[in-house]
Amino acid sequence: MKGVQPAFAAMRKGAEGSNLDLLKPNAAILMKSFAEAEDFMKRRGLADAARWAQDARKMVEGIDKGAVAGQWDIVKASATELQKACAQCHGAYRERGEDGTFFIKPKAARNK
Ligand code: HEC
Repeated sequence: MKGVQPAFAAMRKGAEGSNLDLLKPNAAILMKSFAEAEDFMKRRGLADAARWAQDARKMVEGIDKGAVAGQWDIVKASATELQKACAQCHGAYRERGEDGTFFIKPKAARNK
């Protein structure tokens, strides 16, 4: 997930500035990261998280396509939606350790 934050920030900047050259490579990083996250969640048996990762990847796909088509209003709105998807998964699965680093919550520790 470490590469996700800068890629998302840069993609968002690309969306705000209608800048395809900035958006496209960062969208590619995000799609790859979410595909990996989906695979990782699946292997852990976390079906809902795997679906969220898939949804997030599809949102980035939509953003990428929209940008190529020059539909910047849709691109901007989708970037905001994507941020909600980040928060949804983090709320359920991300935990901050005592040393300040993040890790994934074990399933048994959820909803406590
Ligand atoms: C499918 C679930 C899921 C989605 C969707 C998701 N994340 Fe995460 N994220 C996690 C989990 C689990 C962790 C903790 C484990 C880790 O760091 O890999 C995490 C950690 C992070 C971290 C901390 C990394 C670190 O170790 O410093 C950042 C930053 C982050 N996510 C950003 C984002 C952004 C931005 C998005 C949306 C564009 C996003 N994430 C979408 C699950 C998700």
